[in-house]
Amino acid sequence: MTASPGRNTTAPATRQWPTSAVNKGKGKPKPPPATADGAAGDHLPWVEKYRPASLSDLVAHEDMTNTIIKFIDEKRLPHLLFYGPPGTGKTSTILACARRLYGPQYKSMILELNASDDRGIDVVREQIKNFASTRKIFSSGFKLIVLDEADAMTTAAQAALRRIIEKYTKNVRFCIICNYVSKIILALQSRCTRFRFNPLEPDQVERRLDFICRLEGVDLRPDGMQALLRLSQGDMRRALNVAQSTFAAFGTVDEAAVYSTTGTPLPRDVERCTDWLMNEDMTTAIVHMASLRVDKGYALADLLGDMFLFLARMEMPDPAKIVVYEALAEIEYNLSLGCSEAIQAGALAAAFRLAVELASK
Ligand SMILES: Nc1ncnc2c1ncn2[C@@H]1O[C@H](COP(=O)(O)OP(=O)(O)OP(=O)(O)O)[C@@H](O)[C@H]1O
Ligand SMILES: [Mg+2]
Repeated sequence: MTASPGRNTTAPATRQWPTSAVNKGKGKPKPPPATADGAAGDHLPWVEKYRPASLSDLVAHEDMTNTIIKFIDEKRLPHLLFYGPPGTGKTSTILACARRLYGPQYKSMILELNASDDRGIDVVREQIKNFASTRKIFSSGFKLIVLDEADAMTTAAQAALRRIIEKYTKNVRFCIICNYVSKIILALQSRCTRFRFNPLEPDQVERRLDFICRLEGVDLRPDGMQALLRLSQGDMRRALNVAQSTFAAFGTVDEAAVYSTTGTPLPRDVERCTDWLMNEDMTTAIVHMASLRVDKGYALADLLGDMFLFLARMEMPDPAKIVVYEALAEIEYNLSLGCSEAIQAGALAAAFRLAVELASK
């Protein structure tokens, strides 16, 4: 079996993530198919309860799943390298592959090793050897070894893996999974077929959330959905975890509940702060901001990130933007060192005042 080095499959980006809270007039998409555990396992976190059972249950990366299905059906599965940000379906995809390959007893045919475990390559080698050399019970010609979080492996361990992969290729396929492909040595990359898992598109996350919330009887409001999409930025795990916690805490999933559960500032509060900083005198702006922070329990650092996104969309001459951006960067850094929030809020107000004066010249 030869792997195709450097192959790289990506899904085209089609829709923008919401950056503000409002999103109007969207039709309800069709629900995706059911999952492995269905309504059973009420005690489980939703991410596990609704982990896609089969490749067709995955709501994203269709081109990649079709390619993998083809590989499996033609019994030509190469070694695989899955990479991409968290919560995009890498682990779910390989588990679904295993189910397709081996049926319900797939667990005896796959060995899952978490590469960030504290074990040395010798232990890993021994486990692989034992697993690979036990006789196969099912008809498929090979077993599957999944090396999750492989980017946490040392270069020496990765180098040792090259030989192991070659030695056992006859009866084992490897699937290497990581977040950062640049941390995987080229020799390993070239032994695998690479698949990049992009962050999910908003409508894909929306479809899945809508489906799960309906099964769970969640009162999910449109502004709550937009808040979940905005906070998750294509990370399905985060979207589900925030939805579940919000539902548990508030019984309803709307914008205010979502932001309050995560402690993230509401977009309209960020807008209000920016408005004060630009249009009020410094003292008034500082006082208003301080009382908002106390009332809502916001950290100044949390406001800065959203303020940056908000400013990026605003019309403002470049010299004025430069002053504010530099101040935001410095204040964020200072806050990370533990500097006083009150003094940093003053510095923020000062930077805005300077920017407004520059803009009016
Ligand atoms: N494409 C998808 N379709 C449906 N559900 C998904 C998809 N991707 C992720 N999920 C949901 O998110 C959860 C986490 O996904 P998974 O464990 O596969 O992420 P991952 O890419 O392996 O993340 P990490 O890099 O953090 O290990 C799954 O249990 C599943 O519920
Ligand atoms: Mg994973």
